[in-house]
Amino acid sequence: MTSEKRVLLIISGGIAAYKALELIRRLREQTIKVRCILTKAGAEFVTPLSLSALSEDTVYGELFSLTDEAAMGHIQLSRDADLLVVAPATADILAKMAQGRADDLATTALLATDKPVLVAPAMNVRMWEHAATQDNLATLRRRGVFSIGPTEGDMACGEFGYGRLAEPGDILNAITGFFADRGRLAGHRALVTSGPTHEPIDPVRYIANRSSGRQGHAVAEALSRMGAETTLVSGPSQLPDPAGTRVIKVETAEQMLTACRAALPADVAVCAAAVADWRVDNAAAQKLKKDGGAVPQLSLTANPDILASLSANGNDRPRLVIGFAAETQDVVELARAKRLRKGCDWILANDVSPGSGTFGGTDNLVHLIRADGVETWPRMSKNDVATRLAREVAQNLNDEQG
Ligand code: CTP
Repeated sequence: MTSEKRVLLIISGGIAAYKALELIRRLREQTIKVRCILTKAGAEFVTPLSLSALSEDTVYGELFSLTDEAAMGHIQLSRDADLLVVAPATADILAKMAQGRADDLATTALLATDKPVLVAPAMNVRMWEHAATQDNLATLRRRGVFSIGPTEGDMACGEFGYGRLAEPGDILNAITGFFADRGRLAGHRALVTSGPTHEPIDPVRYIANRSSGRQGHAVAEALSRMGAETTLVSGPSQLPDPAGTRVIKVETAEQMLTACRAALPADVAVCAAAVADWRVDNAAAQKLKKDGGAVPQLSLTANPDILASLSANGNDRPRLVIGFAAETQDVVELARAKRLRKGCDWILANDVSPGSGTFGGTDNLVHLIRADGVETWPRMSKNDVATRLAREVAQNLNDEQG
């Protein structure tokens, strides 16, 4: 049943585990089904009996329990849910998830799942601030794990700082937001460009830029998560392929344009690639040698503009074409002009001045520029920018249809 909403809630050890009870109660109020896995440490703080009473379901705990395995295998347990939520998530379970360990039922379910995962960390502030924990969470987020919190406040251990579990109401909102987004773009086709392009100088050298592909990959994943049939055309990037998308890997701007044209028709196109503006038109067929000391003279020629080309594309033009503008000064003014020049519908303008940390970083500060005005979004992660953009896209496409 696709309309049924099922959460697998993993409760790991921590004083905040009692808040999981409130979360279950509120999820049940929203008719969301909850099945619980309680870790051994978690069971020191809450009892299986109270979890079972609130969730109205069996509570699972032991990986090698014969009765549990007979009723529900650990693989099926993780596949049966629409969303896995780890709340509270201790430093230990985050570390195990980052490493891919599977030494109990909770971590085995997390490793075996192909479903989205939300973690709500809660721990002592020093443990939270430790580079190991921060690295682990960054690794998980890069892999597409969502996170909420922790918040700042007094801690059970007597210290003050970040480490408190997000409030059950906020975790509930994140979960209901996930279910509300699900399927919003079903029946729509999306095309996204991402990453840099590599323009060869000779068989071993190329011109490139510092784009990581994070923003474009996140946009593709968000559109796909909302149900769009998504094609990602990506230049060289270290990132894993976003879940649920068809990925076409290219090197050069010309290849990117060809791949984009082949991916049409699409309802929405988002051009997030940092396409090299120029390519070498006298690229050497063989490796250039230093012989004789002469410095090679490169002759550059303009690359096709993929965003402008998709925006102009006659009958095949996607209904909504969105570009990005990377600016270091007069961000909104220059981006407004760029929107008109390229003929796209919306531009997301971002500040990439040195020190902004945008290029290659995980956060982004953007302004959404449309024909009827500018909306400045608060600084947020590239994943959150992607989700918000995908929601705007869904609203636009569905409004137009309705
Ligand atoms: N773009 C593209 N093809 C190109 C160049 C850019 O599709 N050959 C797209 C990018 O994906 C992005 C937008 O156009 O959506 C950025 O436009 P661009 O003119 O490259 O802007 P900047 O990178 O900000 O550079 P400049 O200010 O030098 O114009």
